Amino acid sequence: LWSPSAIIDDAVARIREQVGDKKVLLGLSGGVDSSVTALLLQKAIGKQLTCVFVDNGLLRLNEGQQVKEMFEPMDLNFVYADASDRFLEALKGISDPELKRKAIGKTFIDVFADEARKLDDVEFLAQGTIYPDVIESAAAKSGKAHVIKSHHNVGGLPEDLKFKLVEPLRELFKDEVRRIGIALGLPESMVMRHPFPGPGLGVRVLGEVKKEYLDLLRRADAIFMEELNKTGWYQKVSQAFTVFLPVRAVGVMGDHRSYDFVVSLRAVKTIDFMTAKWAELPYDLLGHISNRIINEINGISRVVYDISGKPPATIEWE
Ligand code: XMP
Repeated sequence: LWSPSAIIDDAVARIREQVGDKKVLLGLSGGVDSSVTALLLQKAIGKQLTCVFVDNGLLRLNEGQQVKEMFEPMDLNFVYADASDRFLEALKGISDPELKRKAIGKTFIDVFADEARKLDDVEFLAQGTIYPDVIESAAAKSGKAHVIKSHHNVGGLPEDLKFKLVEPLRELFKDEVRRIGIALGLPESMVMRHPFPGPGLGVRVLGEVKKEYLDLLRRADAIFMEELNKTGWYQKVSQAFTVFLPVRAVGVMGDHRSYDFVVSLRAVKTIDFMTAKWAELPYDLLGHISNRIINEINGISRVVYDISGKPPATIEWE
């Protein structure tokens, strides 16, 4: 019978058997999969584990801080690599979505490799690969899957960093990982979070990424999430987020003319993220969110709602 505690015991035993007294490195993203992986490893091998969290500056409001507060007090080695400037530098002047994804992926590998080289005697690299990832990458390798966007993970580390892989979630589905997360004491709010793409807000600021745009987007998205949570709509949709459009529109603020940026709200319902329907959020909720964003954020003058299905659109805009 499937029970979280039996799966946890089994995973812990298997990790101990595979790793012995050797050291393990884990790239922590703050998402469910890597967090659950971290907790399982911590339980199995404690301080033999080092978690590296790369802050790429493309995270949501206060997200880096939250990860720090959660993992720093734990009985493991935690490294917070603040690389925001490196990512912004790498993205400078690039507006093509695929080139942006490549620049973000490459910078991530560079930063992660730099951190890995600072550690001694690490033999293993842990990854939060879950069963659907295994299937997806097998399909991609066989040429069966049509790749629309290049997704990134820690694959492709430089030659001098050869690790053996530890993947304790390899046989699990997402809902199982979530149940294990709860059993391991992860807060519900973190376990039930919507998916967040590896390139983060880098693909939600359309075109060239600038610090100013990221800051506006973070604030708008925080309002959107706050309202969805307050009304129970967060759990009713599969994924919701805000997109920053680097175009200006005219408005009136008091007796002034404003000429500021536009954001789009996106909320979708989907089972498998391969196809998706736009979510029919209530008009009064959309109206309230729009008013809050425009009134509270100096720099945004207009809010639109994305009513594109997948296909033909994708869920993310880039
Ligand atoms: P699209 O935009 O292709 O997105 O309809 C489908 C799902 O995948 C997420 N997504 C990513 N996840 N790395 C990820 O880990 C990525 O590079 C990436 N790009 C998109 C997207 O948020 C949606 O849930």
